[in-house]
Amino acid sequence: MANHLLEVKGVNIFHGDAQAVWDVSFHVDEQKIVALVGANGAGKSTILNAISSIIRPSGGDILFSGNSTVRLKPEEVVAMGISQVPEGRRIFSCLTVLENLELGAYPANKRPYLKESMKRALSVFPVLESRMGQAAGTLSGGEQQMLAIARALMARPTLLMLDEPSLGLAPIFVSRVFDTIQALNKEGLTILLVEQNVFQAMEIADYAFVLQTGRLKMEGTTEELRGNPEFQHAFLGIMG
Ligand SMILES: Nc1ncnc2c1ncn2[C@@H]1O[C@H](COP(=O)(O)OP(=O)(O)OP(=O)(O)O)[C@@H](O)[C@H]1O
Ligand SMILES: [Mg+2]
Repeated sequence: MANHLLEVKGVNIFHGDAQAVWDVSFHVDEQKIVALVGANGAGKSTILNAISSIIRPSGGDILFSGNSTVRLKPEEVVAMGISQVPEGRRIFSCLTVLENLELGAYPANKRPYLKESMKRALSVFPVLESRMGQAAGTLSGGEQQMLAIARALMARPTLLMLDEPSLGLAPIFVSRVFDTIQALNKEGLTILLVEQNVFQAMEIADYAFVLQTGRLKMEGTTEELRGNPEFQHAFLGIMG
């Protein structure tokens, strides 16, 4: 069996009594960009939150480098090498840019690398350097998204999960975010990307999984899916 970096195996996830994810399995291989796409409410964020141990699946398993994560606390998952850039960024608006970045390095095994990680995060987003003392809430939307990604990088992840990173951004920032994701991947970071902007996600992804109302509906290389009439119709606005 192939050795996947992340393997989600038959997970069922509930919000209270309501089941949001049904027997979903997918995997992310090392150094790839994998897209997870689907309409509003399909369960994409629910799955990322389960991988981050913010929600516990009621069945199935999640393996990272072969080790189950489902009983771990969120900070233990970050310590293992999985960082999530949450939907809506969730930066701490009243804290400074510097404080937000420092918080990204909170797991005990990451703190010794704080200076090095900061240098690296700022080399990815140099604009943040001139904003370090500023309250994060005063940044533009595009800069806040950069800060959210930079904060996730502060934990030195092996797998970076991004939940709708381009949502609500001006077009110039959208292309910058996608360029950055691609550049990070070229440097060796594995990416799990949730995007509404399927067209652009397919431009940079190697492989994609498609969710429909909590179930896995299709999967394939981006090339295969681009040539699939059902996928074209549902996501690329191409009428069949
Ligand atoms: N905290 C919650 N409590 C109850 N139900 C929830 C909660 N979060 C999500 N849901 C429900 O779970 C389902 C999946 O939601 P989820 O947010 O994972 O979808 P999504 O694919 O990320 O959608 P979007 O594209 O809008 O972000 C939806 O039916 C949603 O209403
Ligand atoms: Mg979502």
